[in-house]
Amino acid sequence: MRIVTWKKEMQKLAKECQRKGKSIGFVPTMGYLHEGHVTLVKEARNHNDVVVMSIFVNPLQFGPEEDFEAYPRDPERDKQLAEEAGVDILFMPDAEEMYHHKPAMKMTVSRKTNILCGVNRPGHFDGVVTVLAKLFHLTLPDRAYFGLKDAQQFAVVASLVDDLDFPVELVPVETVREPSGLAVSSRNVNLTKEEKKQAPAIYKGLQKAKELIEQGENNIEVITRSVKEYMEEHMDAEIDYVELLSFPELERIPEPTGTMMIAAAVKFSQTRLIDNIMIKR
Ligand code: PAJ
Repeated sequence: MRIVTWKKEMQKLAKECQRKGKSIGFVPTMGYLHEGHVTLVKEARNHNDVVVMSIFVNPLQFGPEEDFEAYPRDPERDKQLAEEAGVDILFMPDAEEMYHHKPAMKMTVSRKTNILCGVNRPGHFDGVVTVLAKLFHLTLPDRAYFGLKDAQQFAVVASLVDDLDFPVELVPVETVREPSGLAVSSRNVNLTKEEKKQAPAIYKGLQKAKELIEQGENNIEVITRSVKEYMEEHMDAEIDYVELLSFPELERIPEPTGTMMIAAAVKFSQTRLIDNIMIKR
């Protein structure tokens, strides 16, 4: 595995791959790698000649009150895990390298962000699309792999690619979970022991919605309220939101129909977790 820290070198390597007719699969991450990231790499490995992973904790996508400093980091362990997972090129720039100059450009996401994480994290998705636009230009991927755990991120990135005609195919990957049902996340290390025991109630709560819809419940308010009640009963945490939306449009719907997503964000003492499941009717 080759480790690259400079943008120019990354782009040169990507261009070389293109010239040789080798397809590039790209897995962007913020590191502190886990089973979810490894699954994305395996998918990329199966369908591309070269697998590029980026590790960059992107300051632009963290709000002033958010956990940029506390975001877990372990570059040495990450290098080992990336290599074992099958990464060929690991791109690990620092913030100085990624954002040299005071920028004259600003990207703003104008749809799909007035709901879910867009509400309490103003500017978050602007930061995500900015860094991804740069990373796509630097790594020149044929395919880029994203987890459905961050379903709103997937939907927003799909708009980035569509609106700006990036020549990349986005590949969604199912959420990887612990046996308890808790979605694997870098942020799980910031849960206390007690919170770790409670957190699987997020997934269990979301499944309540699925059950209700399968039983024929049509009232969205009834569905989301019963999910919230379940979560409140089983966790000492603040429920940020529980929402049932159409996917990938991320719009409120009058009643459950088509492809939908039920999503939740929950604030524990030191960290905020998100999860969702897809439902079809
Ligand atoms: P990060 O949180 O490190 O996630 C990197 C990728 O791993 C994302 O596509 C995310 O959806 C996926 N992922 C995380 N947990 C997962 C799980 N349990 N199962 C499946 N996939 C999972 O998302 C980001 O970084 C950043 O916003 C980034 C896209 C890199 C831009 O900075």
